[in-house]
Formats: sequence, C-alpha cells, structure tokens
Amino acid sequence: MDSFWWYITLRGGNGQEEILSTAVDLAGSIGSEVQEFPEGVRVRAYFRSNEDLGTWQMRLRQALEPWPEVKVEDTGRIENQPWYRECEEAFPPLEVGSRFVVLAPWHRGKESPGRIPLVVKPGSAFGTGYHESTQIVLELMETRVKSGDSVVDVGTGSGILSLGALKLGAASVVARDLDGAVLAEVEENLDLNDLRGAVRLEEGDLLRGFAGPVDLLTANIVLEPLLQLLPDVRRVLKPGGWALFSGLLGTEKQTFLAALEEAGLHPAEDRARGEWWGVAAQNPA
Ligand SMILES: C[S@@+](CC[C@H](N)C(=O)[O-])C[C@H]1O[C@@H](n2cnc3c(N)ncnc32)[C@H](O)[C@@H]1O
Repeated sequence: MDSFWWYITLRGGNGQEEILSTAVDLAGSIGSEVQEFPEGVRVRAYFRSNEDLGTWQMRLRQALEPWPEVKVEDTGRIENQPWYRECEEAFPPLEVGSRFVVLAPWHRGKESPGRIPLVVKPGSAFGTGYHESTQIVLELMETRVKSGDSVVDVGTGSGILSLGALKLGAASVVARDLDGAVLAEVEENLDLNDLRGAVRLEEGDLLRGFAGPVDLLTANIVLEPLLQLLPDVRRVLKPGGWALFSGLLGTEKQTFLAALEEAGLHPAEDRARGEWWGVAAQNPA
C-alpha cells in the first residue's frame, strides 16, 4: 500500500467535466473529485506514488493533448488516508446489469435481494464497480459464464471481474496484473466474498507466460495494450471461448473491430456507456 498519493488539479472551462474526468482516467488516476463553478470546472485527480509526479504529469499532458486550454492549477501529495471512508455513505450498493450489485464492505446487508453481491473495498487498485468500463464487462459476462468455466482476468485491478465470473459459476480464475501492488487488494476482496482459493494471482504483462487454455478472458484496459493483447487471445482461448474487452472509447470502436477481425475473433455483442465502449468476441469453434 502506498504511504502517500500524488494529486494534480486541473482547471477547465464550462462543459469540460467529462473531458477532464476521462483524461485523468486514461492517465492512470486512482480516483478524482470534480467541482463545478459558474466559470468552469476543477478536477483534482489522485495518482499512486509508485511513479514520480513528473511521470503522471507527462501522461496527463499526453491525454490532454487535444485540449491545450486545460490548465494545471496545482499539484502535491497527501498521506494515504482511507479517503473513501470519509463519508460512510460513499459507494452505496449499485445495481449493475440484471444480476449484480456491487457494494463496499461497510454497506453489506443493504444489497438488493435477488442480486449477486460483489463486495469490493475501494482501495488504490482500479475497479470499485462504479466505472462504466467495468460495468460493461460485468454485463457482457452475465450470459456467457458457464458453470465450471476457467477464466483469465487480464489487468485484474481490484479483482472485481474475477469475483463476478466466480459468482456466476466459474471454477477457476487466473487474475493477472502488470502492477504487482494490486494483488494484495485482490486477496482482500476474495476474502470479503469468501472466494479465497479459487484464484491464482500473477504479476505479469498481458498474456506473457500464460498458456491457457481457458473458456473466458476478460480485459478492461485501454486501446494500446488491448491491441497488443489481441494476437495472443486465440492461443489461450478454447474453441468457442469468449473474450470480453472494455476500456475503449466509443471513438475507438472501428479501430478495435478491425483488429478483432485480423485476430480471427468474432464480435457478437457490444455495449456503450457514457463515452466508454466494450465488446464480447468469440473464438470460432
Ligand atoms: C482499468 S483497470 C481494470 C480493473 C478491473 N479489471 C476492472 O474492470 O475494473 C486496468 C488494469 O490493468 C492493469 N494493466 C495495465 N496494463 C497492463 C498490462 N500490460 N498487463 C497487465 N495488466 C495491465 C492496470 O494495472 C490496471 O489494474
């Protein structure tokens, strides 16, 4: 766990809230706060301290390249407080798709009856379930996970997609992330859901060193790593297996569909939510 986080505060004009929020997500922020003013919007984004502040500033500048008018107002560091608990009402139960409800551990017992609870402790790993890109994969998996399935979850973050697959009946999951620091958080979330033992945790880059074969692959990352991942997907998927991709922007849809075709995968269903887009693609039987 990081002992402190960086923050970068951005100032934009009226109507730029979505742009600023998306840019900080793309740059790798672990959370952000938005304040609106009559004359514009301010977004304070938090970043992990495993990279130096200059690196995050550079990534943010790249993400904001099309909007040179957006200004950095200030930067700094804060001690790692459980900020998400400042308000006990934070992260109330949220229904996702037709089967899931995601909630923080302090809201357990308040979930809607008849839904599958995914208990996730908001931490520094991405994946509280409140982000549209995560919700897209949870929705796409609802009708595709079969009892006894094997799964690989690439870019697991908090482990939320692994939890979803297991609760839909998957028998085993390999949860991988480039950032080894998230794996302790995945373990904690597995414990909160009584699922320890069903998941193998691996620090690793995309599918490097992973042989499979599995019935289902999930990957909610961003365009560039997803494009790098695609040529390896059929190697690890069983015939007829599913790959669920998200973390793409709606504007990237055509690029990704063309890359899927080149990789020999058949898109079957896609979803858009806000500016985010994801797709379920099948390995031909
Ligand atoms: C957007 S988060 C998704 C977290 C969670 N799966 C969800 O859907 O909410 C992307 C995750 O992918 C990881 N990641 C980024 N590049 C990666 C790579 N090349 N190989 C493996 N994981 C990667 C990040 O560390 C991060 O935890």
